[in-house]
Amino acid sequence: MQNLAHHDIEKSQAQSIETVIEMRGVSTRFGEHVVHSDINLKINRAEIFAIIGGSGSGKSTLLREMILLQLPNSGSINILGINLTDISEKNALALRKRWGVMFQHGGLFGALTVKENVGLPLREHTTLSDAQIDAIAEQKLIMTGLKLEVGAQYPSELSGGMLKRASLARALALEPELLFLDEPTAGLDPISAAGVDELVVQLRDQFGLTIIMITHDLDLLWQVADRVAVLSDGRVQAVDSMLGLSSSNIDSVKAFFDGPRGRSAREQSALQAIKINDHLKDSSSKLK
Ligand SMILES: Nc1ncnc2c1ncn2[C@@H]1O[C@H](COP(=O)(O)OP(=O)(O)O)[C@@H](O)[C@H]1O
Ligand SMILES: [Mg+2]
Repeated sequence: MQNLAHHDIEKSQAQSIETVIEMRGVSTRFGEHVVHSDINLKINRAEIFAIIGGSGSGKSTLLREMILLQLPNSGSINILGINLTDISEKNALALRKRWGVMFQHGGLFGALTVKENVGLPLREHTTLSDAQIDAIAEQKLIMTGLKLEVGAQYPSELSGGMLKRASLARALALEPELLFLDEPTAGLDPISAAGVDELVVQLRDQFGLTIIMITHDLDLLWQVADRVAVLSDGRVQAVDSMLGLSSSNIDSVKAFFDGPRGRSAREQSALQAIKINDHLKDSSSKLK
């Protein structure tokens, strides 16, 4: 009861902003090795939220904790209003249907066709008929920009970009509210990667999905991320837009924009400023 009342108050205070993921004081270690020492994060509904940080900074571990594949040593994680500590089997199963995950290496089953792979979550979690499952799987293939014929192919026959799309189609099979992407553009050529950028934005805009992604891809970050959390030394050092982060004074954030990446970052922030300017001009001319 108390929880419910608290939730209602928060809701009325938050108005249109709804927190869908909240991590508080999360600490994680593997033996002596401390990966997270005090992680605090809030992710809002329908935002594209990115997590960046050096290799080994604990990004994937954080994502695994959000999707119930791993428990932190301490702290709390709340997803869609449900606390993950001591979660019941029933709630865990219900939650798993409300998110889709695209792992870094796709994770499609080689012995199944693409369409069978996409339909798999529906076979596991619903009582839909084979014909209904096929129809939904085909719809998801189209939605992710794949041709229907691809459904009959095996994962080994697909290009890297098509594999990413197929695994995205599978992540979307159960029409989730949350979508987790671990390095969605890793290993793709620039054109395929740009296609993923557009797809991510489209999923958020058309279906109101909340997207949580881990990425090193600066283009993807500049093009699509609403907010970016920088993970370093076991903590979230900053959460801001890329534009905000690019002028940060925090050392670990500056480090991300220094070196070979720095020039590209500066170019991007200049480009972004031009785009915002154009957008403003465009919307003011529409008003006229
Ligand atoms: N299951 C595990 N057992 C032991 N160490 C682990 C395990 N998973 C991750 N680690 C360690 O935790 C650190 C963070 O890993 P990870 O979350 O995969 O980093 P990132 O995704 O940021 O590269 C790394 O040092 C990694 O070796
Ligand atoms: Mg990782």
